[in-house]
Order: sequence, then structure tokens, then C-alpha cells
Amino acid sequence: MIQRRKVGVVGTGNVGVAAAYALFIQGIASELVLIDMNERRAEGEAMDLMHGQALVGSVYVRAGTYTDLEDAQLVVVSAGASQKSPDESRLDLLNRNADVFQSIIGELDMHAPGAVVVIATNPVDILTYVSQELSSRPSRQIIGTGTLLDTARFRALLGQYYSVDPRSVHAYVLGEHGDSEVPIWSNANVGGLPILDNTVLDRPFDRSEMDHLFEQVRRAAYQIIERKGYTNTAIGVVIARIVRAVLGDEKAVLPVSVRLNGEYGISNVCLSIPAVVSFRGVESFVLPDLSEKELEGMRASARLLQKSLEQLSVRPDVDRTL
Ligand SMILES: NC(=O)c1ccc[n+]([C@@H]2O[C@H](COP(=O)([O-])OP(=O)(O)OC[C@H]3O[C@@H](n4cnc5c(N)ncnc54)[C@H](O)[C@@H]3O)[C@@H](O)[C@H]2O)c1
Repeated sequence: MIQRRKVGVVGTGNVGVAAAYALFIQGIASELVLIDMNERRAEGEAMDLMHGQALVGSVYVRAGTYTDLEDAQLVVVSAGASQKSPDESRLDLLNRNADVFQSIIGELDMHAPGAVVVIATNPVDILTYVSQELSSRPSRQIIGTGTLLDTARFRALLGQYYSVDPRSVHAYVLGEHGDSEVPIWSNANVGGLPILDNTVLDRPFDRSEMDHLFEQVRRAAYQIIERKGYTNTAIGVVIARIVRAVLGDEKAVLPVSVRLNGEYGISNVCLSIPAVVSFRGVESFVLPDLSEKELEGMRASARLLQKSLEQLSVRPDVDRTL
């Protein structure tokens, strides 16, 4: 394990501060630099976190600027606008946030060219792609949080359904982090036993119950926003998980948003597939066999994202071939 683990968080709103808090209390970073266009806010968040230091240990948190990221190993980007209302789709956020990224990625390339960058801002698949296009660092060093959050929600609900620890449930949501995301039933399992063809813990696979369960995953963000106005705590934990995989050089397999280059017949777009995440960023992929329906779902996700990329105003020379 690297002794000094310096992590930047750009955008310390609801999501950025939840990520900083998760990194802080889990002791994943040894130094956190909080950056926000609202400097006072970043300062306030750093002060607030530092008041917990005596109880957490020697994690040092401060507000800063991009020049403070010179020797950061990783930078989380959660800057930008969030969904305005439950009716606003993630893709509607596209042009509002793509503009913001042009300047942020430029700063990161100047001051932290070797750092792995984890993108959380929505639409996360599009902004991961845009960041890779804008940045001079290798694409594998820019990772979107993608469907790790949806996968965590899926596993939590399946865990409740089967009354088991969700960490013993292995089931992915892949594709777009958004409405077209794809539940992968074909290899979903509890403790290694596939749920599709088996009665697991006295519960045979019930298609309508499972469709209902997945609908709760797909609608989760909308339902939370309806109630509290934004989502932040689970995505904070998700970001911390990715940061831990990178800084710990774990080679953990996580469904995150990466650029595809022929996997499942998809190219030139970012979406989530299971990726091996290490200190280098994304090392390689672990590609489960998908059913025809799941494959078609993945390709539909890719087509939708490609269409959004075509609407981009930020980078007219984005490659538009899928
Ligand atoms: N990936 C996911 O699963 C997931 C989950 C939840 C939210 N999100 C997304 O995360 C993003 C942030 O959400 P939030 O609720 O924290 O929003 P927020 O409005 O609370 O915070 C955004 C912060 O970004 C800052 N900011 C804006 N432009 C900036 C710039 N150019 N440089 C530095 N800072 C800048 C703002 O000052 C603000 O503090 C949104 O796009 C939201 O949709 C993603």
C-alpha cells in the first residue's frame, strides 16, 4: 500500500462531500484536497471534516486549487449541475455539464497529468467519454462510476429478497447508467447458485417479481430525488470503493464506465462492463456471456449514448462512429 495517498475532489456539493466523507472515515486517502468554484463552500466542508480528525485518525483535509493536485494519485470529479427535478433525465443534463468539463479536464491535465480520474457527474457515461477525448492521459486512466451504483442497489434488493447478505449476491447491472441500463439475469447468483434456473433458498425465479425488483433499481434515483432532492450517500460509498481499488492496486472487478473497443460488438462509446481496476486505472475486462436479450439491451444502450454524443456542443470533432 502506498503510504501517501493524495486524492482530489473537484466539486464539493452533495456528491463530492459524500465521497470525501466516505474516503475520510474509511481512511482510504491520507490527504484530501477539496476544490469547488464556490471556494467558501470547499473551505467549510474541509473545516467540518477536519473536526472529525481526532476521532478518525491522520487523514488531512484542506480546500485548495488545481495547483495543489501536483502529486495526487487520483482525482474525483463530481462538479456540475444535478438533476433539477424528478422529470429531468440524465441525458438532459448533457450540454449543461459538458461545458464545465472542458475547463476542469484542462486543469487536471496541467496539474495532475499522471492521476487516475474518476468521473461521477451525470450523464456519467457521456462525460467519461468527453473527458477521455479532452484529456491527454490514456483512456484507461479515466473511469466513470457507471453502473456500480445500480449494481449495488440491485444486489441490495436481491439480498433482501433472498434474505442473504448482499455481498453474497453476485449480479450486475451493465450498460448505460440511466434508463436503458441492463440487468444481467443470465449469470446472477446467490453464493454461486444461478437464480435464473434454480430454486434458491426456497424461492424459484419469478419473472414478474424480478421485473418489479429491477424496476425499483432503475427508478431509484428518481424516487430518492422526489423525496430528498438529490442522491449522494450511496454514490459517495461507490466512489470510495473505486478509489480504494485504485490506490490499493486491488485489481478488483467492478462494473464501471469504460471505453469499449469491440467488446460485445460495441465501440467508441463509454458504458459499464465488468473491468479490472488497479493503480493503472482499468487494466482489462471480464466479459460474462450474455443472453441474446441482454446483448440487444447493451447495444440499445450504446446506440442511445452514441446519439447523445452526437448532440454534444462541446467537442465538434468527437468520433461519431459506433
Ligand atoms: N454517477 C452517479 O451515480 C451519480 C449519482 C448522484 C449524482 N450524480 C451527479 O453528480 C453531480 C453532482 O451532484 P450534486 O448533487 O453534488 O450537485 P451539487 O449542485 O450539490 O454540487 C455540484 C458542485 O459542483 C460545483 N461546480 C460547478 N461547476 C464547477 C466547476 N467548473 N469547477 C468546480 N466546481 C464546480 C458547484 O459549485 C457545486 O458545489 C451531478 O451531475 C449529479 O447528477 C451522479
